[in-house]
Amino acid sequence: MTCDPTDRPAGPDAVTCTGLVHAFGDTRAVDGLDLSVRQGEVFGLLGPNGAGKTTAIRCITTLLPVPAGQVRVFGHDPAVDRMAVRRLLGYVPQQLSADAGLTGRENVTLFARVFDVPRRERADRVAQALAAVNLTDAADRLAKTYSGGMVRRLELAQALVSAPRLLILDEPTIGLDPIARTGVWEHINAVRAATGMTVLVTTHYMDEADQYCDRVALMHRGRIRALGTPAELRRGLAERRRARGETAAGDPTLEDVFRDVAGSGLDDTSGDFRDVRSTRRTAQRLG
Ligand SMILES: Nc1ncnc2c1ncn2[C@@H]1O[C@H](COP(=O)(O)OP(=O)(O)OP(=O)(O)O)[C@@H](O)[C@H]1O
Ligand SMILES: [Mg+2]
Repeated sequence: MTCDPTDRPAGPDAVTCTGLVHAFGDTRAVDGLDLSVRQGEVFGLLGPNGAGKTTAIRCITTLLPVPAGQVRVFGHDPAVDRMAVRRLLGYVPQQLSADAGLTGRENVTLFARVFDVPRRERADRVAQALAAVNLTDAADRLAKTYSGGMVRRLELAQALVSAPRLLILDEPTIGLDPIARTGVWEHINAVRAATGMTVLVTTHYMDEADQYCDRVALMHRGRIRALGTPAELRRGLAERRRARGETAAGDPTLEDVFRDVAGSGLDDTSGDFRDVRSTRRTAQRLG
């Protein structure tokens, strides 16, 4: 962590969602979501499979419409000015986004074109983005020859090439070994330190959230159920345990907080076959 989350910069929050609802048929994937991500922070959106994290992110990134409630990205309304929102953000989706049949450099160049990086600057910006994630030496190899960690770093370069003010990462480290996970976070933090970029990230790795996020929100059944710095959430659980007269071994971890908030809901209505299948597919492709 490099920034003090209480030290709020002037200007609008990077993201605000107010009463956001998005349903697929009868499934209210996002069900009245209220969320603010402050400029410059690393904000972790946590929650069990099927909690609605990816759906919320797809509303924020303009990939899904906002049928009810409000979303703002640096004050812009995606329903009114979709391109203004897209120009501000870089996005690493949960599903694989790199093309295995292109080289690393070609993949990043494609994103530079899509995100309107001026033609004159393109080659330099692509080279810088690849260098930022340590892929310069492998840049001209086909992505299908990359390891899972290299693919995730390539996707990070794709998202960074447009110099976004807001980087949104949906499970950026899934399926990676501990060293590769640390590597991805080091690259994110280096860019963040250099540019002041805001980061919104989802992860199922509670240790990562604890170590790298300024604030985290626990989402469950389409809504935020707990919000704070990792330390605040851990302290909060310790107090609840004391109040309940429970004696637990050791101080609570963020994983304990997660279980406390979501544990009662980890039943057959939370997550489904599609969630498991898509997570496995991603892990397999990367692994
Ligand atoms: N395209 C879709 N069509 C139908 N239902 C969907 C679709 N996308 C998501 N859902 C449903 O919406 C709910 C929330 O899914 P979402 O992918 O947002 O969860 P998540 O929190 O990202 O889960 P995970 O941690 O597994 O990635 C789930 O019940 C899921 O089955
Ligand atoms: Mg998801």
